[in-house]
Amino acid sequence: MCGIVGYVGDGQAAPFLLEGLTRLEYRGYDSAGIAVYDGEKIRIEKSVGRLSELKKKIEGNVPVGSTGIGHTRWATHGRPSDMNAHPHADCHGDFAVVHNGIIENYMTLKEDLIAKGHIFVSETDTEVLAHLLEEVYDGDFESSVRKVLSMVEGSYSLVFMSRRDPGMLICSKQDNPLVIGLGDGENFIASDIPAIINRTRRTYILSDGEIAVVKKDAIWVTNHAGEPITKKVFEVNWNAEAAEKGGYEHFMLKEIHEQPKAVRATLSSRLAKDDSAVVLDELKWNRGFLDSVNRIFIVACGTAYHAGLVGKYYIERMARIPVECDIASEFRYRAPIVDDHTLTIVISQSGETIDTLAALKEAKRLGSRTLAVTNVVGSSIARDADQVIYTWAGPEIAVASTKAYTTQLIVMLLIALYMAGIKETMPQKRIAELIRGAREIPTQIGKTLEDVDPIKTFAKQYGFNEDVFFIGRSLDYDVALEGALKLKEISYIHAEAYAAGELKHGTLALIVEGVPVIALATQKSVYEKTLSNIKEVKARDAVVIGIAAEGDTELKKYADHVIYVPEADEMLIPLLTVVPLQLLAYYAALTRGCDVDKPRNLAKSVTVE
Ligand code: M6R
Repeated sequence: MCGIVGYVGDGQAAPFLLEGLTRLEYRGYDSAGIAVYDGEKIRIEKSVGRLSELKKKIEGNVPVGSTGIGHTRWATHGRPSDMNAHPHADCHGDFAVVHNGIIENYMTLKEDLIAKGHIFVSETDTEVLAHLLEEVYDGDFESSVRKVLSMVEGSYSLVFMSRRDPGMLICSKQDNPLVIGLGDGENFIASDIPAIINRTRRTYILSDGEIAVVKKDAIWVTNHAGEPITKKVFEVNWNAEAAEKGGYEHFMLKEIHEQPKAVRATLSSRLAKDDSAVVLDELKWNRGFLDSVNRIFIVACGTAYHAGLVGKYYIERMARIPVECDIASEFRYRAPIVDDHTLTIVISQSGETIDTLAALKEAKRLGSRTLAVTNVVGSSIARDADQVIYTWAGPEIAVASTKAYTTQLIVMLLIALYMAGIKETMPQKRIAELIRGAREIPTQIGKTLEDVDPIKTFAKQYGFNEDVFFIGRSLDYDVALEGALKLKEISYIHAEAYAAGELKHGTLALIVEGVPVIALATQKSVYEKTLSNIKEVKARDAVVIGIAAEGDTELKKYADHVIYVPEADEMLIPLLTVVPLQLLAYYAALTRGCDVDKPRNLAKSVTVE
């Protein structure tokens, strides 16, 4: 989704703005622009398309100046175009602004401003911010921005610059992320840490409603009432290298290969040495608390939602508490039955997904206790939830989520085992067995990644099919959903996942000769049933690619090909079976020449509804 950068300092602004925006490219965007104060005027340069277009446009004539802002836009109000790209200015070019989010009352404000003589040049909601500032500006930049913010409704992170107040940027946020990077004789602003990580690891993370005035040698933060706020420096604990490709062709491939490390890190120090229990110091729950919880909601979007489905299975099977798993954009509007006996677990890699954040707020409003599972320390979701468990996956850059998913599964497993231990709903022996099994997972994922040639071959063979079906039962179905999402998202192949037993209720009509069906068959309790479903699709001449555990001798009798993953407990095997599906999606996307890391229309962090 949109990216924001800002620079004020002794150096040149444009090189940082372009570099920062390049580092935010992974978020997904359709146009880009920068504004730099050149000592006389604010020079704005923007272009539809990739950043390379903007760079081409200003080649040999890069804006000169040491205060500037930049933006990559993901269109919401108005199509992608040069005009609609940010930064936006007022009528006289005195102010420029970049903005992520949506100004919900922009139409009313715009009509009012037009009536007062302001001339608008774009279709965006953002442009009202610049005109509004022009309208209320009284010579005091800070108080004027405060006035503007008191008039707008919606979600935003934004940065203003002013020709009349050189060497100063003012930024604020509401429901969208914004960080300030602390430099030496220079300071940075960004919507996301990767934009500034190779300049500084010392940051201030802004909270909702905070307004920061940023100069090269001073920063002060206040609330909407103008009261000062003391910010703590947040040291980022990863470096620029972690946000780079490290020799891999794509971030997605790198991140798939980072899964053993990410899962190991997420498990580390959370398992008792003697395998007897899960140690979640973050939670410190007791029997009294868990007995008071009569219902759990797991709420998330996309891949995180798929991890939630597995979480539901784990918690219900292990801790015997009823769980509903909900899509965040549905949960928040469907008047869910939530009270103070409810625990709401939200899952979000970025910690910034607006629907998940809003669902979290709604659950809290209704009296629920809340727990966030997220990968980003200091993210909005991490800060809003009562409690947080971090997945230690490291930065995930590719739009397609991979290592975030496997680490989310691990965290859901840990939560379920932790609850089961406290509630004594599972034999101790079984808890220890699963903990020992979990310890093996990183090595087993590594083994799954060793031989990718068959997967490359299938991707080449079937990568040009327009429809692919995924089937499975129980946990295999949950993984099938994730496999299908991965494939559609990056290869644009129409892929659907079905509970295998559901096929006959309609979908079987679509199974004709040559249609690829990816069938997961790892769950013992429903194994025979899954085989029957596989036979049904084979009888319609589908091409079946089976996914099974090593040692399975049956599946190959019915499937055209079988991909084996290491043998593991059936509760844990989703952490392994998802890996070939991620790789299949990756290589299918390559076969079709797709932009793997930045699939069309998608954004890494979905900060608008
Ligand atoms: O950052 P989040 O985990 O909240 O993101 C949720 C979804 O937008 C995300 O998982 C999306 O579905 C991925 N692109 C899937 O690969």
